[in-house]
Amino acid sequence: MPTKRNQKDGRASIPLGERATLSLTFDKDDISTLQKLPWYKPLTEWTERDARSLQVKSGLSRHVVRFVKVRGKSFAIKETSAETAEKEYNSYVQLWEMEVPTLRPVGRVIREDRKMLSETKAAPQVESDSTGYVITRLLEYSIPHYHLFKRAFTTVNRNIIWDAIVRLFVQLHRKGVYWGDASLSNMMIVFANQHLPEIGIRTVLRAVLADAETVEIYPQLSEKLRLADAEHFLETMAWTEADVISSGIIREPLMTEADQRYIMSRYLDLFEIEREEQTFELITKIDVDAMLGPFGIRGESKALLQHIYEHRWYLSEREKREVPIEDAARDWYETVFKPVIRLFGEFKILDEFPDRTAASLYLDIMLHKYYLSEKVGRDVGLSVAFESYSKRFKGKHRTMEKMMGLARSMKKLFEK
Ligand SMILES: Nc1ncnc2c1ncn2[C@@H]1O[C@H](COP(=O)(O)OP(=O)(O)O)[C@@H](O)[C@H]1O
Ligand SMILES: [Mg+2]
Repeated sequence: MPTKRNQKDGRASIPLGERATLSLTFDKDDISTLQKLPWYKPLTEWTERDARSLQVKSGLSRHVVRFVKVRGKSFAIKETSAETAEKEYNSYVQLWEMEVPTLRPVGRVIREDRKMLSETKAAPQVESDSTGYVITRLLEYSIPHYHLFKRAFTTVNRNIIWDAIVRLFVQLHRKGVYWGDASLSNMMIVFANQHLPEIGIRTVLRAVLADAETVEIYPQLSEKLRLADAEHFLETMAWTEADVISSGIIREPLMTEADQRYIMSRYLDLFEIEREEQTFELITKIDVDAMLGPFGIRGESKALLQHIYEHRWYLSEREKREVPIEDAARDWYETVFKPVIRLFGEFKILDEFPDRTAASLYLDIMLHKYYLSEKVGRDVGLSVAFESYSKRFKGKHRTMEKMMGLARSMKKLFEK
């Protein structure tokens, strides 16, 4: 996650004689580095003496984008109109503050050029013409797009990429951000470390918004705009596909109809899961990402909530008073969830389920316990549920042994 910027911007306004004025806004840290760059001339005229240029593989773009290294720091500079630069820079700042994965804004420069059209003293005609620059910190180590799809033969790999992209959409939309130009060339895919509670660090793919020109931010986003973003993405993939196939980079399609269906349904799913997560947090005051880890499928948060309600019932009985739901949630978290998850860690259970989070595995087992208890008409207890759950792994000795070990520890922990 990006860290919030807390430093004030440095601002300056520099008259360049009669011809032009520059208005510069930079991150305080970078102001001395960046204000000396030759903002009075077009990017295409910058020389190596002005700023060392970097060869960076970038997406298709309409504007001139240049990558430079100054005093050990690398930046991307996009040349555009004054209005666009102003708007895009502000959007980046807002996105960054919302902690959405995006490029880190560093500054913006506006140059007003004045051209004398007629030299007569009686009626001098002046036309002004303005240019803008958006400066962002260079995002390194992104995976080149053609590489992504060259390596992604399997459905599993493709889906990992689609998931990263869909997750970016959901994050944006949940915060009221309409992208307006979602496409592969306007995003970058990077490896990132995700911190999962009780599991630690897991390496994941993350999509980063890398063109904020068309971004619009609302208090809330209508379903129509949300779907428009996702559909636009699918459309641009078809154009990109035509491009890369004709240039001979890849032969296979970037996106099949099955991929398209996967993306749309995954998007709708993840958006719903996020909504459920918000409701869950509102009721329980549990910070899901920090305490449980993200939910993976629809209904998980409801099942967990059901659990917490049951725990409240049990607590209320024991204490002979109505225990508030937040207190019950806290107690459940400390005395049930955490000890179980710790045991997962001790027995390295999650190694056997590399695509699961601790929370989703916990829930799966709890669901299993619920069905078993329903069948026999009484609560079978955690260790029995674990034992029975592990019978699913008959063919897999290691997994089964671990699960049985876990069941025994569970018994000691909860059923002394
Ligand atoms: N800070 C940055 N770090 C790395 N790559 C960048 C950065 N800024 C832009 N790019 C690359 O340059 C491409 C073009 O920039 P973009 O803002 O999309 O320009 P345009 O508005 O012309 O489409 C992006 O798609 C991205 O690949
Ligand atoms: Mg672009």
